[in-house]
Order: sequence, then structure tokens, then C-alpha cells
Amino acid sequence: MAFSPTLIVLFALHILSINAHSWVEQLTVIAPNGTFIGTPGYARGNVLRTPGFVDTMTYLIPPNSRQDVTSVLPVDNICRETQQDQAQTEGSPRLQANPGAAIALRYQENGHVTLPQNQPGKPPNRGFVYVYGTTQPKTDEKLLDIHGKWTQDGKGGDKRGVLLSKQNFDDGRCYQVNDQSISQTRQKEYAHNANQLMGADLWCQQDLRLPTNAPTGKPYTLYWVWDWPTKAGVDPTYPKGKQEIYTTCIDVDIVQAANNKLGVSPEYESNQDLNNAAIPSQFDALGKTVSSQQSSSVTSMPTAARETVTEWITVKTTQTIIGSPTGY
Ligand SMILES: *[C@@H]1O[C@H](CO)[C@@H](O)[C@H](O)[C@H]1NC(C)=O
Repeated sequence: MAFSPTLIVLFALHILSINAHSWVEQLTVIAPNGTFIGTPGYARGNVLRTPGFVDTMTYLIPPNSRQDVTSVLPVDNICRETQQDQAQTEGSPRLQANPGAAIALRYQENGHVTLPQNQPGKPPNRGFVYVYGTTQPKTDEKLLDIHGKWTQDGKGGDKRGVLLSKQNFDDGRCYQVNDQSISQTRQKEYAHNANQLMGADLWCQQDLRLPTNAPTGKPYTLYWVWDWPTKAGVDPTYPKGKQEIYTTCIDVDIVQAANNKLGVSPEYESNQDLNNAAIPSQFDALGKTVSSQQSSSVTSMPTAARETVTEWITVKTTQTIIGSPTGY
């Protein structure tokens, strides 16, 4: 039986994407009406998902190589080896944003939202995503010096930075295309035109406001931390549970623009293209206290999700791809 080379490539890309985890793929400034505007920015040491992509972006803490894979240690760095320095790669520049700008960080759910049956004992919201910010980043920055320490008022931990945002990993909309019920429901509810960036999937996002006092003419550092623990007593492999954290380290160039209008909610344009728009509830909450920003709605796990299925059988290979399948 002959397979078309295109199908084989697509299938290979799918295998790749389901083994990969999540990181911040792209950042954009959000206009006051909720639309993404301007040139997107990228993480330190970013590698775009072009054909032939090899994952050097996933950063797991604690690492799989550790004898005890269940606990984070004080020696664990917050940034991946390839993201220790404030350096960009060719073709993946920093985001340029004004002080106080609303920005969106987008990441792929990789089945962690739409195929929750694959990881027993995980939180219903798929864990929290945190963004910490600082003007004084350090090389070899330790996760435990920052995560759970820095606070919105800047008085936490060593006081070098702040907590800018805390959201559910599941933003309530995002999906990858598969034949399971969460994805099927969201494909109808949050329909969008497939584009070159995301393909037919809809990426997840975390919207936040940069500090209004961020100094211009220099980079401002963001640490994105996805905290996705396994509960004790559910997964027989981890009877005492397990910590599982993924991070992305990002610098944003703070620039002073002529029009320094801050993104605010009353002007949000409803019914706009989901490919390029902020999440209304998150956009509404910008400027409020971090603890009041989280959306309360969490997808309940549907019956179908309890079936044991292997990801690579259920993933479809028949999606419409426009241009190169960089969204995979
Ligand atoms: C929102 O504003 C931006 C910038 O002013 C504009 O480019 C965009 O088209 C607007 N979006 C909508 C949905 O009107």
C-alpha cells in the first residue's frame, strides 16, 4: 500500500507534537479593542516549529533524569540551559511593548486540555500558569527563589520581581483538533479559520499587563511557569503524587511609543476573529489583583474522557493545512 509523502510528513509531525509539551510560542501586544497588533515576539533562544523541528524548547522541572522525579529542588534553575542568557535567535526577535501594555502569551495545549485522560491525577484546570516579571534577572536563577515567592506587591522573596499574572492553563477556549468530546465541542463553539501559525488548532493564551513603571530602553524579563502537579493516590506510578513544572524565559523590549494608550476592557470588540484576539474575560481583568483575575469556569471532564485511548490513534491526520504546517 502506497502512502503519499505528504501524509507521512504530516503524521511524523503529529507524533512530534504529541510528545512535546508546552512553552510560550509567541507574544503579541493587544490593542485597546482586544485585537493582537504589531510584530510578534519570542522567548530567549527560540526555535520555531518549522518542518524538521526538534524540540529544544520543553523545559521540565524536576527533570526525568533525576533519581527522584517527584520533587523540585533548590538547585533547579528556572530557565532551560538554552534560555539562561538574554539572547534571541535569528528570526525570533523580542516583543517590543510600551510600559503598561497589554500582551498575550500563547502556548499549545498538546492534549493537556482536550485529552485529560492521558495523565491521571492532574488538576481539572490543567494546572496554573504564572508569569513573574523583573528588571533584574540573574543567570542561574533558581525556580524556588521566585515561584511561590514573588508577589504582586513586590514584597515577596528577595523582592527583585513581581507576580504579574496567574491563570488556569486551560483558558476555556483552546484546543487541538482530535475526535474526543472536549475538542469536538470547542471546535464548534470557538470556530476559526485555520491559519499558518496554528493550523486548525486554537492556541491557549495568557493575557497580562506589563508594569506601567517598567523602564524604557531596556529589556524586561518574564518567567512563565506552568505548575501541573499530579495528586497523590491516583497514578500508581506516583503514589505520593508528583511535582511537574514547565517554564519559558522571555525578554520584552520596553519602548516608549507616541500613542501610549493602555489596553482597557470597555473597548473590547466582540465577535472578532479568534486567531488574533485576547480572551475577553482575561482582558476584562487586566489591572485587577492577580487573585481576582482567574476565570472560574473549568471544563468538567466528559464521560468520553474516561475511556483509555492512546493519543496517536485518535489524532487525526486529515486537517486542512495552509502553507507549511508550522502550527504542529
Ligand atoms: C482594533 O484596533 C486595531 C488597532 O487600532 C485595528 O488594527 C483592528 O482592526 C481593530 N480590530 C477590530 C476588530 O476592529
